Amino acid sequence: MKRDLLSAGELSRDEAVLILDTAEELAGLTERPIKKLPTLRGRTVVNLFFEDSTRTRISFEAAAKRLSADVLNFSAKGSSVSKGESLKDTALTLEAMGADGVVIRHSASGAPHRLATWVRGSVINAGDGAHEHPTQALLDAFTMRRHLGRLEGLRVTIVGDVLHSRVARSNVLLLSTLAAETTLVAPPTLLPVAVETWPCAVSYDLDSVLPKTDVVMMLRVQAERMNASYFPTVREYSRRYRLDAARMAQLPDDAIVMHPGPMNRGVEIAAEVADSARSTIVEQVANGVTVRMAVLYLLLGGAKA
Ligand code: NCD
Repeated sequence: MKRDLLSAGELSRDEAVLILDTAEELAGLTERPIKKLPTLRGRTVVNLFFEDSTRTRISFEAAAKRLSADVLNFSAKGSSVSKGESLKDTALTLEAMGADGVVIRHSASGAPHRLATWVRGSVINAGDGAHEHPTQALLDAFTMRRHLGRLEGLRVTIVGDVLHSRVARSNVLLLSTLAAETTLVAPPTLLPVAVETWPCAVSYDLDSVLPKTDVVMMLRVQAERMNASYFPTVREYSRRYRLDAARMAQLPDDAIVMHPGPMNRGVEIAAEVADSARSTIVEQVANGVTVRMAVLYLLLGGAKA
């Protein structure tokens, strides 16, 4: 393994499979009454969150604690960042506190890469702007493999606000490495420029793709990142791109429905679909802890022990 996990795109097939297999081994632990291993005892993991988060931050905290690491939580609100402290000075402060691992979420694409040049510990990207979110892609792949038994040849359809989605980019890159076939479905205004260079297919028509889909992943419409109007009305968007019960019925029998959360119920996904037996949304959250344990274990648990 490399020292850092900055991008899903930089993982080799062997590294990605090692993370998924390690997570599979650790999964047994989360089902035990005492969910703790001594593996990272004495190590310090800092959660550095410059952007809001519920599940990702708590997930990393739970993962580090289950491996017995000490966890320091930092959020930009209420810190010296609001006094104008730079990322570099914040990084040097962490370095002085002896962080072995730094988990960072930041609104600027590339912030984790910069941080990695300033600190000695392992840096894990927990979402940088609209760029990447590698552990989300890993937990999604883990969830798909658990349900459908394989990733190779799996037909994965990712639907919605691809333009603002680091989850979509990381998934496309990782799934391509793992030989799944990905199709992005979105209105043209919500697709990034140069999407034709991504290792996936693109469609504007959800209804024609669903019958040939093993996994449908719905993306949140990210209103907070939108500074212009990307579609006429929410109603119009939902009419064409929301996964409702009628659309879900077009999926093959064993297909699953995913969403990274947080959901806009009723906008990109109907409540009855989110709560249906095909939905893996709650399971994705549980798998997130397991997969992040695997990542922390592989990055921090090695040679220095
Ligand atoms: C995503 C994120 O923050 O990139 N959520 C998550 O990490 N589970 C997706 C989103 O915000 O819509």
